[in-house]
Amino acid sequence: MSKPVRPILIFDSGVGGLSIYQEVKQMLPTLPVVYCSDTAFFPYGSKPEEAVIERTSYCLQTLAEQYHPPLAIVACNTASTVSLPRVRKELGFPVVGVVPAIKTASEQSKARCIGLLATPGTIRRSYTDQLINDFAGDCHVIRVGSSELVDLAEQHLRGKQVASEQLKRIVAPFFYHSRQPDTIVLGCTHFPLLTDALNDVIPSPVQWVDSGTAIARRVHSLLKDNLPTSHERDIFTYTGKSSSVTALAPALERMGFSSPIRLN
Ligand code: DGL
Repeated sequence: MSKPVRPILIFDSGVGGLSIYQEVKQMLPTLPVVYCSDTAFFPYGSKPEEAVIERTSYCLQTLAEQYHPPLAIVACNTASTVSLPRVRKELGFPVVGVVPAIKTASEQSKARCIGLLATPGTIRRSYTDQLINDFAGDCHVIRVGSSELVDLAEQHLRGKQVASEQLKRIVAPFFYHSRQPDTIVLGCTHFPLLTDALNDVIPSPVQWVDSGTAIARRVHSLLKDNLPTSHERDIFTYTGKSSSVTALAPALERMGFSSPIRLN
């Protein structure tokens, strides 16, 4: 009898991790995936660190018991920047974290001025301070935290129009001063879902940097000798009310998921 296919896990507080999912599937189209949107506890960006750690640990353990994955991606900067040591200790398989791509931005910035657009939680993390000290010590770094932008990405994937005035107001602090960033890190996985809309409202062009491609490469290198393969649709799970994911159906269908399943 053939062994059951073990899908990888991609976990986020909401739909943001789908930006990572898309990068992973672009590189590894037949890799089976179980996605989990922790809709019941969304958003993570405004919650205390301890609560985010507990919740991430609980959800990943529940998913691991059900799906026996070979690997998990914590596709959430807000969760990864605090919970990786704990979940790596608890789970018996590799856990790939998604953290702000400060190093890449520093390598690319000619102006030596970079922006970090992330959740309020991520911009104040000591993990983020450390990344900046280690990789962008000679850069001026402007941090902007926004939960509103997370909500806009959620709405966008539910087919709602994003108001450009609102977007313009959110990114305005990057452009207040004479020293302006030429490179902005999208340090929340929700934000790459809005790159086109963001490009339409910024006063001067910038390079947006996110962690998606690097994560896909990392997953490939960890699994390459034992890559699970499936031609079935991927699984989208969520916590909380089914009404909170109803409007996502067309986007999920387009991306290759079967009907959403509530995580028990
Ligand atoms: N997508 C998550 C991140 O990368 C956070 C969204 C939230 O605040 O829940 O940080």
